[in-house]
Amino acid sequence: MNTSRHYHITTFGCQMNKADSERMAGILEDMGMKWSEDPESADLILYNTCTIRDNAEQKVYSYIGKQAKRKQSQPDLTLIVAGCVAQQEGEQLLRRVPELDLIMGPQHANRLGDLLEQVFNGSQVVATDSVYIEEDITKPRRDSAIAAWVNIIYGCNERCTYCVVPNVRGIEQSRTPEAIKAEMTELGQQGYKEVTLLGQNIDAYGRDLPGSTPSGRHKHTLTDLLYYVSDVPGIERIRFATSHPRYFTERLIKACYELPTVCEHFHIPFQSGDNDILKAMSRGYTHQKYRQIIDKIRKYMPDASISADAIVGFPGETEAQFENTLKLVEDIGFDRLNTAAYSPRPGTPAALWDNQIEESVKSDRLQRLNHLVSQKAAERSQRYLNTIQEILVEDLNPKNPAQVMGRTRGNHLTFFSGNIEQLKAQTVKVKITETRPFSLTGVII
Ligand code: SAH
Ligand code: SF4
Ligand code: F3S
Repeated sequence: MNTSRHYHITTFGCQMNKADSERMAGILEDMGMKWSEDPESADLILYNTCTIRDNAEQKVYSYIGKQAKRKQSQPDLTLIVAGCVAQQEGEQLLRRVPELDLIMGPQHANRLGDLLEQVFNGSQVVATDSVYIEEDITKPRRDSAIAAWVNIIYGCNERCTYCVVPNVRGIEQSRTPEAIKAEMTELGQQGYKEVTLLGQNIDAYGRDLPGSTPSGRHKHTLTDLLYYVSDVPGIERIRFATSHPRYFTERLIKACYELPTVCEHFHIPFQSGDNDILKAMSRGYTHQKYRQIIDKIRKYMPDASISADAIVGFPGETEAQFENTLKLVEDIGFDRLNTAAYSPRPGTPAALWDNQIEESVKSDRLQRLNHLVSQKAAERSQRYLNTIQEILVEDLNPKNPAQVMGRTRGNHLTFFSGNIEQLKAQTVKVKITETRPFSLTGVII
């Protein structure tokens, strides 16, 4: 193969896609290709796509359309669509954009090398069948040299009625505790300081592994895994996402409390504060249960940072039901909340219901919720004023080169004066002098 080829990857969507892109980039580098920041000067372009909401999907089409045109005058350009749109649309995408060389679902990320070989031999390839996900033996090309993603479970077996993820990511497949620890050990040796363990429903970790039973207590829960990987040399901080309130346990909270490397940072989406809406979403918990989880976390770790996701305008949501979501946000006070207006997705049950909410109502509710969220985040943020926080320094502040930036254990972005050459990848103590809803400023002590 021609070794002077340059590749470019644009990644849409969630942390899973970011992690997949880093592994796919590693495979391309292994094949001798070089990264190109600018897609226009690349000979191979890979779009790793997201279809969680309609606007995410439409954005992908506008990117692909532009490069497809370019391919007409530059036939040796290789065009790849990977990720969740690829999985959802499959062959149809090829009919829509015949210039594409390769369409590959997320389960095929680790197979990029084999698939490309077929492409370079002259085939147009669609890889969207469900497969057993093999361990990837190439080294990912990671964006950061300090904090790394580590997948622990792929796929999702839940059936939330709004969500495309189970359709596009397939059934749950856990990696073995040994493979996870081996990856973390290598990261520690390379100088990484922080690891975020990833899964769409991370609390499901291990239930598909041999020796586990689908019901009852299994051998390899997320909690067991945390104990097993908590002392990997060099790894000072461990985070995990995304938690599901249905499966979240007190044992897990205790592990986070006991293990010094596990950060007091929880991302637990609640989606709605109304029990009837939660039922229609098939989420499997009530707002009371959600509140109990947060209370328990705060009992062990009063300062824990709590973030979540929420959807407004789910089919049938009344004004009073929406107000229950506002009430939950008011009562809990999240450090951060990702909010979205409900978007009907192909192949999901709720998209077919006839009680859809008007767009204007959804956007009005979204605005009201976002307003409350930043108000509460600003209040929450103030608890850090004059406290001393441990900051893991990651980089220069791109907006002010006299400052460096890093994050607290609770994942709050923090800026302070300092020399990046000396401080990069160091954990330092910083006194917080200024708070904003989603970031902090301080002085090193
Ligand atoms: N596995 C995670 C979330 C994955 S998707 C969980 O169970 O919470 C990320 C977020 O996108 C979801 O938490 C939800 O808030 C949002 N989302 C998913 N489907 C959506 C849809 N059809 N419309 C709007 N938001 C959606
Ligand atoms: Fe989607 Fe629900 Fe699975 Fe999360 S748990 S990925 S919202 S189906
Ligand atoms: Fe999007 Fe797929 Fe993630 S749909 S949110 S990239 S799982």
